[in-house]
Amino acid sequence: LKTAALEAVQQTNDEKELQQIRVNYLGKKGELTGILRGMGKLSAEERPVIGELANVVREEITAALDEKKAVLEEKALEIQLQTEKIDISLPGYPVKRGGAHLLTQIVEEIEDLFVGMGYEIKEGPEVETDYFNFEALNLPKNHPARDMQDTFYLTNELLMRTHTSPMQARTMQKSDKNQPVKMICPGKVYRRDTDDATHSHQFTQIEGLYVDRDVKMSDLKGTLDAFAKAMFGKDRKIRLRPSFFPFTEPSVEMDISCKVCGGTGCRVCKGTGWIEILGAGMVHPNVLRMAGYDPEEFTGFAFGMGPERIAMLKYGVDDIRHFYTNDTRFLNQYHKA
Ligand code: PHE
Repeated sequence: LKTAALEAVQQTNDEKELQQIRVNYLGKKGELTGILRGMGKLSAEERPVIGELANVVREEITAALDEKKAVLEEKALEIQLQTEKIDISLPGYPVKRGGAHLLTQIVEEIEDLFVGMGYEIKEGPEVETDYFNFEALNLPKNHPARDMQDTFYLTNELLMRTHTSPMQARTMQKSDKNQPVKMICPGKVYRRDTDDATHSHQFTQIEGLYVDRDVKMSDLKGTLDAFAKAMFGKDRKIRLRPSFFPFTEPSVEMDISCKVCGGTGCRVCKGTGWIEILGAGMVHPNVLRMAGYDPEEFTGFAFGMGPERIAMLKYGVDDIRHFYTNDTRFLNQYHKA
C-alpha cells in the first residue's frame, strides 16, 4: 500500500489529481483509514505493532503528498509569473483633469479683487423671504417696482431670490453698529424670464455693500473704477448713468467701455461701445433705518453686478445660454493648464 501510494504521488503532475490521491489513501473512506478502522478485530499483541506501522506509513505518505504539493504550487506560480508579465514601459492612459467653470473663475477673480480692498465674502439663502427680497429693501407690497423683477414665488412669503440685494438687509441687520460693514455676496438668483441669448431664468450676481460714517458717492465711483480697471485693463473707462432702484438713492447704472471690436463686429457691445455690467447707488435711508442704522449718522453704497455679463465682455461670449448648457466644447476652452 505504501509503495503504491508513493508511486502515485510521484507520477502525478496535477494538483487536483494529487488531492484525489490524498483522499484515496488518507481520506475518511481511504485505504489506510480502512486498515486503522479494522484494528479492533486484531489480537492484543498484534494491535500496537500494526498500529505503529500504520502511523509510520501515514506519516510517510503525508510527507510525500506535502512535498509534491509544494513543488506543484511553485511550478504553477512560475507559469503565472511568466504569462502575466506587466510591461511597465508602455505609455499609460492620459489622466483627464477637470477645471473650474468659467463663471466660477470670474467670481473667484472678483472676490480676490474685493478681498484686497478689505471686503468680506458672505453667502445667503437662494430661497428667500418676501421681507428680505423686497420689504426690507424699500419695496413694500404693491410697490410698482416689484414688476421690474418677475418672481418665482414658492408660497405667499417664500420666493426664489430675484437678486442678491437681500444680503444687504441681512448683513446690516446683524452687524455691530460700531464697525463698518464691507461685504460682497456672490450667488445664484432667479427670475421668471424666457431664456434667450441675453436672458436666463437663473443667473448669478455679486452684491457689494459698504456702510460706515461718511461714505460718499465718490467712494462708490472710485471703487467701481478700480474694480473695472483691475478686471479688464487700465485702458477701460466706466460711465455712470442715472437710474432707479428702490433701495438706493441716488441710483446709477454702470457701463464699461468695450475694446475696439474686430472684423466680425462686437456683438457683446452691440456697436455702442459700452456695455452695462452693474447697478449701484447710495443705500436708501429707509433701508438703513429698517436695518437699525440712523441715516443721519451712517451712509453707505451698494452695487450688484452680473458675472455672466462680465465674462461675456471679457471673453467675447455672445450667448448667456453657453454658461448653462454644459457643452464641454465651450467650457474646456477656458480651463487653465
Ligand atoms: N439688485 C439690483 C438688480 O438686481 C442691482 C443693485 C444692487 C442695484 C445694489 C443697486 C444696488 O438689478
